[in-house]
Amino acid sequence: MEAEEYFSKDFEWEDLKSEIENDPSFQYHLLPFDPSSSSAIRPPEEESNAWRKFHSRHYTGKFFKERRYLLKEFPELVSCGKGSRVLEVGCGNGSTALPILRGNENVTLYACDCSSEALEYAREMVDASNVASFQHRFHPFVFDFSLSSFPDWLFCSPCRKTSLGQSFPSDIKEAGRTLTGVPSKETSCCLGGLDFVTLIFTLSAIPLHMMPSALMKCFSVLKPGGFLLFRDYGLFDMTMLRFELDKRVGFCEYMRSDGTRSYFFSLETVRDLFVRAGFIEVELDYCCIKSLNRKKGKSMRRVWVHGKFQKPPL
Ligand SMILES: C[S@@+](CC[C@H](N)C(=O)[O-])C[C@H]1O[C@@H](n2cnc3c(N)ncnc32)[C@H](O)[C@@H]1O
Repeated sequence: MEAEEYFSKDFEWEDLKSEIENDPSFQYHLLPFDPSSSSAIRPPEEESNAWRKFHSRHYTGKFFKERRYLLKEFPELVSCGKGSRVLEVGCGNGSTALPILRGNENVTLYACDCSSEALEYAREMVDASNVASFQHRFHPFVFDFSLSSFPDWLFCSPCRKTSLGQSFPSDIKEAGRTLTGVPSKETSCCLGGLDFVTLIFTLSAIPLHMMPSALMKCFSVLKPGGFLLFRDYGLFDMTMLRFELDKRVGFCEYMRSDGTRSYFFSLETVRDLFVRAGFIEVELDYCCIKSLNRKKGKSMRRVWVHGKFQKPPL
């Protein structure tokens, strides 16, 4: 799909909503959900295990598709100046990481995922791009953002340099473990934080009840005035309507047969989650695109949520 297609609004979300609400075959998606009836409440570690297994099974890059449209949606990733630091949370095999690295040579990109296999593949994709500077600007590390706080070395570069020496731990597993002896983010030299956090189709991958604390962690790792750039599945997206009743594990929440889950966001839910975490809303809208499945000759209505949120400046 060409980058421009992602910007057009091919249909109105309100029209899709009323169509779905009036179609009896979709009614089960809209019914209130009784949480006690859900067999899908699992210990938090099992949530990320499902994703680890997913990446082990698909360790071929089949799912790699560079998100070329990303820099048009988030031009600040291109215009930001020297020394800008970006964290991509849930980077998978690097679909978002690679365009960010390509788009601006000033950017240092930290990228985490709960799956070391996904990170190894992301590293391979970056290495295969054959741009020497990418290797110095790309720092993947294993991390589960629904369980732990971000490691201290992410918060402040002077602190990181003094505690780890000049070189950044490049080994994926080494970087993922908790580093000790690092000055805390509260120390006086440290304003703390990254310029940008990107959450691209990652928040929907964790259970709704874990999202508030995961977002607070993203908030904490940003510097004052820094931005969180968000893109994810929107309510009534075609892939939501395809889920059958037995895959429904919450209101707007579904679990695939492989145990990975997907949440479909309304603008209200996104606004509520981000504002409660302390963010200021800068941009928030549905992106409604008709795309053609050439094989089946079918038109599909895709809905994504595009959001830009700021940590209040000092
Ligand atoms: C749908 S993929 C999106 C990947 C990437 N952001 C992109 O633009 O293609 C969701 C990713 O989130 C990762 N993930 C799921 N739960 C996570 C967690 N609790 N902590 C870190 N990563 C997680 C998964 O392993 C997967 O790679």
